Amino acid sequence: MTQSELSRTLESVFEKYPNLCVVGGAFGDEGKGKIAALLSHYYDVVARFAGGSNAGHTYFTSDGKKMVSHLIPCGLAAGKTCVIGRGVLVNLESLLGELDAAAQILGPIPAKAVLVDQQSVVWTPYHPILEAYFEQVRGAGMIKTTGQGIGPMAGLHRLRTGVLVGELFAGSSYCKERLKQLHDALWPLFSEMARRDLLRGINIPSADQVADGLLALAPKIRPMLSDTSFELCGRQKRGARILAEGAQSTGLDLSWGTYPFVSSTMSTAAGAALGLGLPPATFRHTLLVTKVLPTRVGAGPFPSEIWERESAEQFPKSHPELFRSGKPRAQYLKNVLVAVNAGSASNKDIARYFQVLGDERGATTGRGRSVGYLDLPWLRYAIRLNQPMALALTRFDMLSGLKRIPVVTEYLLNGQLVPAGQMPPSWELAYVKPLCESWPCWPDDISGCCQEDLLPQSARHFLTKLERELGVPILLVGTGPKHADIILRAGAAERLAA
Ligand code: IMP
Repeated sequence: MTQSELSRTLESVFEKYPNLCVVGGAFGDEGKGKIAALLSHYYDVVARFAGGSNAGHTYFTSDGKKMVSHLIPCGLAAGKTCVIGRGVLVNLESLLGELDAAAQILGPIPAKAVLVDQQSVVWTPYHPILEAYFEQVRGAGMIKTTGQGIGPMAGLHRLRTGVLVGELFAGSSYCKERLKQLHDALWPLFSEMARRDLLRGINIPSADQVADGLLALAPKIRPMLSDTSFELCGRQKRGARILAEGAQSTGLDLSWGTYPFVSSTMSTAAGAALGLGLPPATFRHTLLVTKVLPTRVGAGPFPSEIWERESAEQFPKSHPELFRSGKPRAQYLKNVLVAVNAGSASNKDIARYFQVLGDERGATTGRGRSVGYLDLPWLRYAIRLNQPMALALTRFDMLSGLKRIPVVTEYLLNGQLVPAGQMPPSWELAYVKPLCESWPCWPDDISGCCQEDLLPQSARHFLTKLERELGVPILLVGTGPKHADIILRAGAAERLAA
């Protein structure tokens, strides 16, 4: 399929879905950015509704330039209005840095290309200090957060002690007073931390210092400030099409993920309307993005994980040569693949092979991601929660060259099968026994393939079998990181466009 055929077909499919939500199916890093960037061409507005600068969305512009965004939705390169909704936790410094980086790649960014909700919670230097403290207190039960202050931002918001972006513009004395309230509420905790020597040399800035720092950024933020719910509603009335871009994923949703090993906002499809201030029925259609081999960073249960988290986290640091292109990487992948196919590779080798092959490192933290097998019970749960009209299956090329791959088909808990669609809580999930089937793969390298009929027959069977197992059509199949490395499946497209 040529690029223009792909565009025409995507246009005819997504024409039917004026408001679409794109969310992740597993534990983040599924390639939501790439899919949102691809679909942004068929929408007028791309809006983030959850998360904050903890997200790391990587995508390529249509002319092959790499973009990494943390807060700005992935519609900037396509020239779409990018909205940071009220459900997003906003670090202004990070946002301005991202805008500068984007301008280096895309050229000057027009005023109003990015809108920030005036009532989103704003980051202060107090948040990461609190976060580090809570992590310390958790000890062995540490969440291993991204360190962006997300939990305290969301938590203090719920305690009605958060400061909002728009409050920076409500007069300097008002703003200082609001930051003083925050400071004073936290002060007993900070003093006790200092007394117990838990501040690790960090000086707690005064409310005035924090206010001055934020107010210095305010002039650059002012043009972006918006009542985004009202703005989106108005645009919708004038016929605008809205793409809601999820961050984190189902497994990291505060309530529906693997609590407490989750992030702190609502990252399932239900969060879209809430985070953007639109009526609940707005996003009736969801595209669930999931990797053929899911990954997880940080702590928390991961039933289909192949090997240890700790080992995965450190691996890119201890073997940097394997994470850059060159001979050592190519030789390593070749040798392990032979062992995997001969059945002589250990789980550790297999996990590391996929980690290297997929360059599984976090875009925000650089931490190594741990890899798991395709997990049908988890996906059935994510499908039940998000009720997607279709799936986008990313990184399908990672199965190239393998004879077979285990796929988790059921969970066994205390000797009983877990009913399809149900998910045990974290404290039980750690003990589920995943039952696997071995699915055939294919010898040919399919990276960069963009035509369904050029896929080997076993790859096509893999997709139809997966569709049957999950009961949801697979519309898009990612075969590499680039914009064009995507297969649009004709049968699914026809059904969805009908
Ligand atoms: P926080 O969002 O920084 O509080 O981190 C909470 C958990 O979510 C940690 O395990 C993080 O590794 C994980 N997490 C947060 N954002 C992302 C993401 O964008 N991709 C993958 N994991 C994430």
